[in-house]
Amino acid sequence: MESPFKADALKGKVALLTGGGSGIGFEISTQFGKHGASVAIMGRRKNVLDDAVSALQSLGIPAVGFEGDVRKQEDAKRVVEATVKHFGKLDILVNGAAGNFLVSAEDLSPNGFKTVMDIDSVGTFTMCHEALAYLKKGGQGRGSSGGGLILNISATLHYTAAWYQIHVSAAKAAVDALTRNLALEWGTDYDIRVNGIAPGPIGDTPGISKLVPKEINSKTRDYTPLYKLGTKWDLAMAALYLASDAGKYINGSTLPVDGGLWLSKPRH
Ligand code: HXC
Repeated sequence: MESPFKADALKGKVALLTGGGSGIGFEISTQFGKHGASVAIMGRRKNVLDDAVSALQSLGIPAVGFEGDVRKQEDAKRVVEATVKHFGKLDILVNGAAGNFLVSAEDLSPNGFKTVMDIDSVGTFTMCHEALAYLKKGGQGRGSSGGGLILNISATLHYTAAWYQIHVSAAKAAVDALTRNLALEWGTDYDIRVNGIAPGPIGDTPGISKLVPKEINSKTRDYTPLYKLGTKWDLAMAALYLASDAGKYINGSTLPVDGGLWLSKPRH
């Protein structure tokens, strides 16, 4: 689908996306690039990064990939520094890296719980922490598009409760708290906007193929509002809105992009 945004909406911006090589993260990388940004992606799997960078470059997007694990502070520091060395600055950090699997609370080991907290919550904080020095100088300063921007990919499952997702619910609740607190502190002190996006079930992503059984995915979703799927494009357009000047007064918000699904109940 064609973008409703101008092709230069992110002209001259440099974005670093964790988890930017696949799923929702890759679509955001692509759309940011198509709208003028240079894109660095960070991920654990070299083959995924290589494929993603080639795909971005084939669209004419300046792109680079850096291997790294957001759970390691030294990786976060190295990748942020490498991005700035490569592109000269950093304007936008998107925290998209996330761990996920379905397991009942009874069967989840404390280490399994901690693993997802470490990736989603601690990893997001670590990336923000390492990027701060550069984001302070990002953007174009007060009065234009503000300072730098952080975009945290969250979820809606912790708004209520979700079966077999206690670890992810806890981790994303923490991510939302990071979004608000960093927006308060860094918005006030450095003009850095910090926002989130909370995707509902998005088709053709690692999350949905793992979390929603195939039979539900194909049949039930046609007549059950709870399983109506969004697209990666929907997410990327929300990200673009928040990252562009259109979103310059938005700070500390997490935008659900789920078609209103988290509020909905099956008809009866
Ligand atoms: C139960 C599991 C498990 C599983 C791992 N663990 N997978 N427990 N069921 N399927 C437990 C392990 O037993 C271990 O605890 C601990 O977690 C660490 O496991 P490792 O395999 O050593 O960890 P690691 O190799 O670092 O892998 C972490 C990972 C990650 C979380 C499993 O590889 C992963 O899930 N990758 C996929 C990422 C993904 O799908 N991203 C999309 C996110 S979508 P013990 O106690 O045994 O040592 C998303 C959507 C949210 O976030 C909302 C959608 C609506």
